[in-house]
Amino acid sequence: MTAHLPLSVNADVVTFTGGGVLVVIEAKKNERPKILYCGPDIAGTDANQLSLLSRWQYVHGGASQERTLTLSNELGTGTLAPPGLIASRDGEDWALDLRVVEVQALEGSGAEIQCFDPSTKIGANYRLILDRNSGVLTCSTQITNHADTPFTLDWCAGMTLPLDPRLSEITGFSGRWAGEFQTEEIGAFQGSYVRENMAGRTSHECFPGVILKTATTTETHGAASGFHLAWSGNHRSRVDRLSDGRSVIQMGELLWPGEIRLGARESYQTPNLLATWSNEGLGAISHAFHTHLSTQILKKRSIAKPRPVHFNTWEAVYFFHNQENIIELAERAAHVGAERFVLDDGWFGARRNDKAGLGDWWVSPDVYPDGLHPIVDKVRELGMEFGLWFEPEMVNPDSDLFRAHPDWVLEASGVDPIGFRNQLTLNVSKPEVFDYLYEKIAALVDEYKIDYIKWDMNRDCHHPGNSGSSDKRAVMHLQTLGVYRLLDRLRDAFPSLEIESCASGGARADYGVLRRADRIWTSDNNDARDRQHIQKGASYFFPLRVLGSHVGPKKCHITGRRFSMEFRVASAIFGHMGLELNLALESDADRAVLAKGIDLYKEHRALLHGGTFHRLSSAPHANVVGVVAPSRGEALFSYALLESRPQSAPDRMFFSGLDPVRQYRVQIVWPQADPSINTPSIVEAGDFMGKGTVFSGAALMEFGMQTPPLHPDSAVIYHLEEI
Ligand code: GLA
Repeated sequence: MTAHLPLSVNADVVTFTGGGVLVVIEAKKNERPKILYCGPDIAGTDANQLSLLSRWQYVHGGASQERTLTLSNELGTGTLAPPGLIASRDGEDWALDLRVVEVQALEGSGAEIQCFDPSTKIGANYRLILDRNSGVLTCSTQITNHADTPFTLDWCAGMTLPLDPRLSEITGFSGRWAGEFQTEEIGAFQGSYVRENMAGRTSHECFPGVILKTATTTETHGAASGFHLAWSGNHRSRVDRLSDGRSVIQMGELLWPGEIRLGARESYQTPNLLATWSNEGLGAISHAFHTHLSTQILKKRSIAKPRPVHFNTWEAVYFFHNQENIIELAERAAHVGAERFVLDDGWFGARRNDKAGLGDWWVSPDVYPDGLHPIVDKVRELGMEFGLWFEPEMVNPDSDLFRAHPDWVLEASGVDPIGFRNQLTLNVSKPEVFDYLYEKIAALVDEYKIDYIKWDMNRDCHHPGNSGSSDKRAVMHLQTLGVYRLLDRLRDAFPSLEIESCASGGARADYGVLRRADRIWTSDNNDARDRQHIQKGASYFFPLRVLGSHVGPKKCHITGRRFSMEFRVASAIFGHMGLELNLALESDADRAVLAKGIDLYKEHRALLHGGTFHRLSSAPHANVVGVVAPSRGEALFSYALLESRPQSAPDRMFFSGLDPVRQYRVQIVWPQADPSINTPSIVEAGDFMGKGTVFSGAALMEFGMQTPPLHPDSAVIYHLEEI
């Protein structure tokens, strides 16, 4: 058997392994680079075997030679499959044919494959880095124009990756405002699955993630692979089933016409495409992504710090700010256990409703004549951190900023702007806009020692033209990079500042923004039942520690549905917990329940955010998730009943991720009173509200446990501790 070294680069073949993944690339000098294999590690094989096993077969009626599937599947290869690179020099030089020039090992487990096409004078640098801890492969492509005449790039996927044809099914992601991260199941097909987003932000409708699996893959068994584009602008994902039996995936930035024109020696860098593979089901794919995000992408600072309980003012007061009310809210928030107080929209300029003020980033003297100091001082006196809402990229036409600089917005000449929440998008790619925003935000962060920014972005971007400039091309790519630079600059200047990425909820949730943010606002929808679905969808790629999840008002402002405080708490605990309600309108009893729920979150947040997340296979009427400590000595599982149960008996719960040979004491830690609607029930029999009962891990996983009979819209949280 050949043992794979973590990384080997010889003249012809690049191999890297780690985290259960194997990648083998044929990269012979002057030849086209080709991925021989990427997928779950195959022990005891080598490149020669893989090369022979993947040999092309001539069939009558087709081309008489192989058309190699390269890292860009560019047109010069003779491909008839969708190319991963579309570009030309004013209609010429479109037949790109990139050949290997040099291969270099990168630090860790990665390689850079430099290619060049002498005929078009275009170069491509492919970077592939395998995170050997998680098994997530990060791929990207840089295209450089080595000629003196400009070269226009219409499409460049992060990379073109071959797919195991047995992964015939797709879990895709769709959604809408207040209904993000909906999953859709797509069965076997011939042809193409294509998702495109032109919203100018990651979008509510089209999260850039694709999961492939076999028809029998479950959460814990079977082959699966997951792909994510770490990018907060426009994007395209496509899976193509070719008629020759091959399948490929491409994900990359979706460009506007003529947007990327490379002058001499200029380059375009794709966003990172992240990929992972497993033979152990969908749970393993999520685990790989969660581990990679936590260890490689999130800043170390917020990883070490327990995620504080938020109080956010939005649904408590909307635009009706005044110092006295806000201070009263802060007192009530601290009383139930909040640790960070976030003053949402409405504190600045003429922002008394959503028609005015965006862009005028100074504290409104009408509303807060003494500035925010009285509030900030009170918040700190109450032992909480202080956070403030901004929507930096936006401007209301009714603002001092727009009146002074009407040419600072993105627009396309000759067309009227599309109305969207009474606001326009600022052109952050303009240095003067960037500087204005940085100075205004930095001054406030400095003056109030702000701990946290809720960074919002509340409109799609329909016409990202570079108005007010002689070059009128679309600048969506530069805009996205400009926002990243602004975030980076603030983080560099204020190293302990934390940032939440919000875009009317989860419309800017991706690993690109999470390089410079600590949390995403998962959804504007705080409906406890909808949140179970939304957070489950998000959990395919995002760990609980980044998923902002708030206890909302008794009657949800978005859906009009009413939920008990127990259920609202249960839905918020499996995430980064917060509150977003007018506490004065809740009953004393509910405030007491809330305070207990916050205590429970604090007690278990190290486990919730440091453990391994599990989605337990569940029918649509229930959502069952859990977190198991890395030691497997402790776990927390939640069973939420979302619809009336389909059978007379309640579901059996099959726990996951435990050590089969260890013994665990099982108790119910939420709600605080026996939730069974009929007794006697398993809760009494097992004394789960009291001392609990001890079971083996194997019994809990293989035999399962009856859940109590519950009303729909309620949940039970089990705590398991090894004895
Ligand atoms: C967006 C956010 C909300 C809130 C409002 C304020 O909708 O998602 O949480 O901050 O803006 O205008």
